[in-house]
Amino acid sequence: MKLFDVYPLFDINIVKGKGCHVWDEHGTEYLDLYGGHAVISIGHAHPHYVEMISRQVGTLGFYSNSVINRLQQQLAERLGKVCGYDDYALFLINSGAEANENALKLASFYNGRTRVVSFNKAFHGRTSLAVEVTNNPKIIAPINDNGHVTYLPLNDIEAMRTELAKGDVCAVIIEGIQGVGGIQLPTDEFMQALRESCTAHGTVLILDEIQSGYGRSGRFFAHQYNGVKPDIITVAKGIGNGFPMGAVLISPLFTPVYGQLGTTFGGNHLACTAALAVLDVMEQEQLVDNAARVGDFLLTELKKLPQIKEVRGRGLMIGLEFEQPIKELRLRLLKEQHVFTGVSGTNVIRLLPPLSFSMEEASEFLRRFQKVLG
Ligand SMILES: Cc1ncc(COP(=O)(O)O)c(C=O)c1O
Repeated sequence: MKLFDVYPLFDINIVKGKGCHVWDEHGTEYLDLYGGHAVISIGHAHPHYVEMISRQVGTLGFYSNSVINRLQQQLAERLGKVCGYDDYALFLINSGAEANENALKLASFYNGRTRVVSFNKAFHGRTSLAVEVTNNPKIIAPINDNGHVTYLPLNDIEAMRTELAKGDVCAVIIEGIQGVGGIQLPTDEFMQALRESCTAHGTVLILDEIQSGYGRSGRFFAHQYNGVKPDIITVAKGIGNGFPMGAVLISPLFTPVYGQLGTTFGGNHLACTAALAVLDVMEQEQLVDNAARVGDFLLTELKKLPQIKEVRGRGLMIGLEFEQPIKELRLRLLKEQHVFTGVSGTNVIRLLPPLSFSMEEASEFLRRFQKVLG
């Protein structure tokens, strides 16, 4: 059997990781400013993470959601405290798309409506509803194209107010900071007006913090810069540092109903152990503060480079927009300077290193980057 060939691959076989570095099969070391697509939060192969998962898999790897799982309860308690949403409830699944899928279902169960507002350039995943609210016709299959969604320009307060005033919008889904869309930030004014309109018209506000959350922006959630509280928050990526996991944080507005949501693998013992290890390390090493500090340094230094048209972002979620396509530049950065970065569209390089990225590693990146910028 062959692999179903949907990924355009770099010709590199990564076999080992440690901290903010990865190694290929030939022993070549790379600086990781991609984090496997914003997934690695506490660094590769962190000893505490390795120890906790190894211990758990030797004790109990999995049992079903039909019995008590104390690890889920511990995670809910710890996460509530650290993210500032103590009074919200936690539902655990396995990926970001699943988190958004469940968030949209909950919203629709809650108000009985079916229309959703999303934004231009939004990305929310590839399952049926998650992909329908994603603003990319190339990945929406005809079977997913069910007319539930209106896409609006980000930060257009008037357009948003007009749409929500129709009174039939089930939910608005918005990223804390748009990731795939090229690191686009919602403004404070827009987010506050959105919160107001959602409340006024009985629309559920869903914040997709799958890429921008879990400390990446320098706060636990990016929307915490905007001074709003969503009704539902979705997370994934960094929650398990590579262990597949997603979560929905649900406000007290919603009442749980037995059987309404469910999953076989979600919140299993290994996933919860990974997530608890991540929270331990985030707290012990103060990684949210580190993301803010190192991110500020990088943003300041990158804004000094005249070759870049615009630098956008917060914390360790940074977009570098160029006048010209960046394909060659990014390839040289990888092949000549051994630096992994992300991309968005044709002209934006995305930096998404582990939250443990140090000042020294940031300086090293800037040195290597300047060599390919010329
Ligand atoms: C903002 C956002 N939402 C949802 C997703 C989908 O997550 P997953 O690939 O885990 O389904 C992604 C993945 O890149 C994302 O960036």
